[in-house]
Amino acid sequence: MYSAAKGVFDILPIDPDASATWRSSYLWQFLEHTIREQAKLYGYREIRTPLFETTELFIRGIGGETDIVSKEMYTFMDKGERSLTLRPEGTAPVMRAFIEKHLGEQQPLHRLFYIGPMFRYERQQAGRYRQHHQFGVEAIGSSSPCQDVETIDLLFSWLRRLGLHNLTLHINSIGRREAREAYVGALKAFLMPKQAHLSTDSQHRLLANPLRILDSKDPADQQQLEGAPSILEFLSAPSQQHFEHVLQLLTVRNIPYRVNPRLVRGLDYYNDTVFEITSEDLGAQNSLGGGGRYDGLMKQLGGADLPAFGFGSGLERILQVLIKQKVPLPSPPVVDVLVIPMGERAIASGFQLTSSLRDAHIACELELSGRRLKTTLSHASEQHIPYVIVLGDQEIDTGIVTLKQMASGQSEQIALADLKQRLQA
Ligand code: HAM
Repeated sequence: MYSAAKGVFDILPIDPDASATWRSSYLWQFLEHTIREQAKLYGYREIRTPLFETTELFIRGIGGETDIVSKEMYTFMDKGERSLTLRPEGTAPVMRAFIEKHLGEQQPLHRLFYIGPMFRYERQQAGRYRQHHQFGVEAIGSSSPCQDVETIDLLFSWLRRLGLHNLTLHINSIGRREAREAYVGALKAFLMPKQAHLSTDSQHRLLANPLRILDSKDPADQQQLEGAPSILEFLSAPSQQHFEHVLQLLTVRNIPYRVNPRLVRGLDYYNDTVFEITSEDLGAQNSLGGGGRYDGLMKQLGGADLPAFGFGSGLERILQVLIKQKVPLPSPPVVDVLVIPMGERAIASGFQLTSSLRDAHIACELELSGRRLKTTLSHASEQHIPYVIVLGDQEIDTGIVTLKQMASGQSEQIALADLKQRLQA
């Protein structure tokens, strides 16, 4: 027997495991529907990029020293000896498509969104999957603080509208390159004498990517960071003004935030504003979504020098929190009528009956498994199918069927010719 590969999962019509209802497709459909509504409300249009890209795009786009590029990419050679990578995130592919298709020439501002799977070879852990799904947006062409807040608001108010509570918006500014370089120098100077007390990972980060030590979850690292300099003290005047304006607009929009100078994010393309929304109801992997400004990425990938702001949010985690917080969610969809034929002759009539009901847009199913009537009826009632029709020789001969309403248990005799009208009513 084969099993799914490690770190991935199936999304079934209804997952039979009570602790994994979030893996049921009707909930994914519901979530995706609310995403499309939210994106439309903010004027974002959908973009779909391929699931794999040339490896170089991610190395240049995300940064060679990041965990994603150095440890987590699914990279393979194709039959033409090209190195390809399953996309670990959506921003670099959107930039690639934008540049390649000259979208910038169509209009000055593009607001794009995507929904789809991302692939990362992660250590297995609750809330971390090797294939996860993101709703992401990228707003390309504006450097206004207003764009930052509009995008954060899109995510935050979507999560709130879904019914989630206990959300925290963490926000920070990591400034521009010069400020970051000066800050990295100061952080290194602060941590060097404490090097031996850092986690092994952070000892490596101290040389390769010191900023990442800031959001290490290791308690030893957090202890060593007590009293460390804050990146906010290193911001240039324009970065500082930008950040202050962002915070003001968040207040205007009534979005509570927590300035978190240790928030740096795991991808190298950000500058100035970065943010993450977390939920107390998740474990260690508590980020429901995150993103920020990345004004230099387009140019770095060979395109125009256009500013941009975006986020990615993990749909698995959002569904898990919705369920954990007992937010009312839709029920699985069912047909309006189940037609149960008794015998071969009734199967032929049932086939005709269900065909004509569907032509009238009445959703119905024809029971063809051959199981016992009693079992079929209890299955219909468990699934909350509203109506059942049992079709036998007598019904075919007389042209009159019994329409059973499952919830009330009431039955009514009705001529086949009147059935459509009755059900439509
Ligand atoms: P990210 O923070 O790497 O950002 O991922 C965004 C979100 O995807 C996370 O907050 C989390 O909810 C979810 N996520 C990430 N990895 C996993 C995983 N292994 N299993 C489950 N969920 C996961 C980005 O990907 C950036 N491209 C976001 C962005 C867009 N920045 C600007 N534009």
